[in-house]
Amino acid sequence: MRKPFIAGNWKLFKTIAESVALVTELAPLVATANGVEIVVAPVFTSLSCVADAIAGTEIKLAAQDCYWEEEGAFTGEVAPRLLKDAGCSHVIIGHSERRQYFGETDGTVNKKTAAALAAGLVAIVCVGETLAEREGERTFAVIESQLLGGLAGFAEADFSRIVVAYEPVWAIGTGKTASDAQAQEVHLFIRELVTRQFGQATADGLRILYGGSVKPDNVKGLMAQPDIDGALVGGASLKAESFAAIATFNV
Ligand code: 13P
Repeated sequence: MRKPFIAGNWKLFKTIAESVALVTELAPLVATANGVEIVVAPVFTSLSCVADAIAGTEIKLAAQDCYWEEEGAFTGEVAPRLLKDAGCSHVIIGHSERRQYFGETDGTVNKKTAAALAAGLVAIVCVGETLAEREGERTFAVIESQLLGGLAGFAEADFSRIVVAYEPVWAIGTGKTASDAQAQEVHLFIRELVTRQFGQATADGLRILYGGSVKPDNVKGLMAQPDIDGALVGGASLKAESFAAIATFNV
């Protein structure tokens, strides 16, 4: 019922030429993907050229962040409508690296998500606990406050353009994936939380991605979990072969 969703977050990697080369290599490899929505998120400077390179393919384009104002004296920021203008259909919001290094809060996630939806983008809203929070048995409390804060004020109808990504911070870039059961447990918690706040139909339709050291050899086990609907892939999305292997997990 929920279309699988595999997204590659390229973070701060790749020039324009390298980005275009990667999607050019990727496109034929994922042409056989089986009913999977495939998204790549290059750095801002590559977006427009990658948009041209993926025209006519099944690959969609995301930015890694956005601002909440449409325009104005906000040096260095990029508005959602400009991402749309550059060819994006999606935007990642509230990634743990933005929370950790750039002062992102649940409040800014909330404003950015509202602005992204208003501009017609799909928002991929990220949540996830740190190792200290997990070890302190605060995982569910942290996820709950990030999610309720980030998605405060939204209506059921907004959820057709919201995707949630659960990325435990301790699993990002560490090679330590959450076990299938650990990930499923949090995904189920998120779905139950969304059921309570926004209703059963909204929760049933919401895609919840797992992120954190997803690789070709662990994607199948994760995707077999009932509440894991996709993956947000970092390191393994930087090579066409490994990202294609992940995106074709069900072929
Ligand atoms: P890795 O796949 O490199 O662990 O990164 C995950 C991530 O942060 C995706 O947004």
